[in-house]
Amino acid sequence: MTTRTAAEFIPPVHDVPRLAAAVQTCRGCGLYENATQAVFGSGPAAARMMLVGEQPGDREDLAGEPFVGPAGRLLDKAIDEAGLERAPLYLTNAVKHFKFVASERGKRRIHKTPSRTEVVACRPWLFAELEAVEPQVVVLLGATAAKALMGSDFRVTAHRGEALRLPALDGIPATVRDAAVVATIHPSAVLRGPSDAREESFRSLVADLRLAGDLLPA
Ligand code: URA
Ligand code: SF4
Repeated sequence: MTTRTAAEFIPPVHDVPRLAAAVQTCRGCGLYENATQAVFGSGPAAARMMLVGEQPGDREDLAGEPFVGPAGRLLDKAIDEAGLERAPLYLTNAVKHFKFVASERGKRRIHKTPSRTEVVACRPWLFAELEAVEPQVVVLLGATAAKALMGSDFRVTAHRGEALRLPALDGIPATVRDAAVVATIHPSAVLRGPSDAREESFRSLVADLRLAGDLLPA
């Protein structure tokens, strides 16, 4: 049996509106079954900077837009403090459907980290977005996004504050070979971390976003 992936659902022309429409038909892994809808990337198709999160959360699954829940609010604040604006950025996720488990009483949907198989299955969408948007700077928010593009051995903590490049990974378009890459923590990690460490981890996220801004060609 061949491994299922999103590849066969990707339309031949990689522009953002076509991709965003086609992603709703994707059956590249099992995650579409329980989610409300796929959540594609959002932002200008000619954005110079792309931010990649993990997967939509509960709020994003309902709204159909990335980063509109609590993690998105924290990210907005970090973007602002880094001297950037959200509107010109293209925001997306490594995985396009929300993975969750029901809480004990079944009232809440609790985020579950996508498996490596699901990340790899969904990755053709991210490759297609990279090709369509051709960002000059890519920010990887958290381990899932970082491992999706940098390889499964990649450790965010070992590479904070560095200007990286995308590896020559099968599927990464040649047109983004020169893009600068910054790997940082996920905004949810700031929210989930111990409260006495929150300010410091928020500051470190802001510093990494500032670096990403500085890496944009003048
Ligand atoms: N967390 C993510 O990684 N992405 C979202 O869109 C929302 C929360
Ligand atoms: Fe397709 Fe990705 Fe959704 Fe899986 S998570 S069904 S690969 S869009």
